[in-house]
This record gives sequence, structure tokens and C-alpha cells, in this order.
Amino acid sequence: KPLAIVFDLDGVITDTAHLHFLAWRKVAGELGIVIDEVFNDSLKGISRGESLLRILRHGGKEGAFTRAEREQIAARKNALYVDSLRTLTPQAVLPGIRELLSALRSEQIKTGLASVSLNAPAILQALQLTPYFDFCADAARIQRSKPDPEIFLAACNGLHVSPQACIGIEDAQAGIDAINASGMRSVGIGSTLTGADLLLPTTEFLTWPRLSAFWQLDK
Ligand code: G6P
Ligand code: MG
Repeated sequence: KPLAIVFDLDGVITDTAHLHFLAWRKVAGELGIVIDEVFNDSLKGISRGESLLRILRHGGKEGAFTRAEREQIAARKNALYVDSLRTLTPQAVLPGIRELLSALRSEQIKTGLASVSLNAPAILQALQLTPYFDFCADAARIQRSKPDPEIFLAACNGLHVSPQACIGIEDAQAGIDAINASGMRSVGIGSTLTGADLLLPTTEFLTWPRLSAFWQLDK
């Protein structure tokens, strides 16, 4: 069996992508930039600063702000986002995830988190999932957003396992590309992803028997 399973957070463990979207839409609107959910998809797995750059580019305002101004805008978005996280309770854990995490504990398979969100530890707390994770990669120490494999490699490193012995789970294309580049085996959630070693429609399909069968099949 795999030595570890490394999870993305947004869209795999809980659906915070919509909360990110609402906060960005408000901030972008104040700058005269309109974003929709389709555009928001391209921000999944992308750090806060890089997301802002993409939004400004989308609105044709790349050069309009200094670095200090951009930091202020990003801080405003984060304040809105953090405020919206108050609505997050253990009920917001996506279907099947708590069961999977507890099955992995029984199987003594290590668990890691690879989210570039600086709010990830607070989100795990709010969902009451912190005890299920052996190691969370520290987003503050990550230089490059997904699709760079850096954060998945950091998670494997922290778990003291080689990427080749691990499965990574992601709902965004940038995330699948990052997992594949890391040498881990990739499991995708959703229907629009390409390149995942195993593709499942929703988190409900994420069960240990299914992951175990996938691991053995691929060997
Ligand atoms: C995740 C989300 C992105 C978000 C990033 C940074 O990767 O998918 O949409 O921009 O985290 O989140 P943060 O909470 O640090 O702003
Ligand atoms: Mg995600």
C-alpha cells in the first residue's frame, strides 16, 4: 500500500473555492474588474499574490498598482475571506473525506496536506480535522504556486516518505500537474481534469478500498 496520501484542501476537503471567489469578486469589483466563476477556476491552487496579479491582468490593469498597493489589496481580500470562514463548521467537510481520513489512520497510512493557502491550519481547525493530519506543508515557505511540485515535495519531505510511495489528491488542473511533476501518483476529483492517474467524479468516491485497488493495479 502507499506510505502516505497527500491532500489538497480547497475542493477536496472542503469547498472554500466559492468563498475565495466571493472575496475576490468584491475586491476586483472595487477596482472595476469583473470576474466570474469560470475565471475563478483558473485561480485554484494559485497563491494570494499570484491570484491578484492574474485578476489585474484579466482586467487590463497589470501595471496600475505599486507592490505596496497590491499588498494592501491582497490584505483586504484576505480580511473578507477570513471573515467568511466564520461560517465554516465540521459540517462543511466534503462527503466521504472524514471516513477516508479515519480509514487511513486504521491502515497506518500517513496523511499530509499540500495547500498553498496561508489559512489552511485555521480551516482544518474549524473543520475539526487537525488531528487527522501528520504533516501540513507550510505555505509561507513555498516559493512557487502549483503546477510547480514544490508544495507536494515539501509535504512528502515532512512526512519522511518518497513521492513515489505516495498518492496525491487534487481537484484543480494546476494541482494534478503539480502531483504528476512530483513523482507521486495522482487522483483527480472532477470531470474536467486531464492527466490524472485516477479520476473520480466527486469526493464520495474517495474510499480506501478504491485507492487501495488503484495502487495495486498501477504497480
Ligand atoms: C488555495 C486556493 C487559492 C488561494 C490559495 C491561497 O490554493 O485554491 O484559490 O488563492 O489557496 O489562499 P490564501 O488563503 O493564502 O489566500
Ligand atoms: Mg483545490
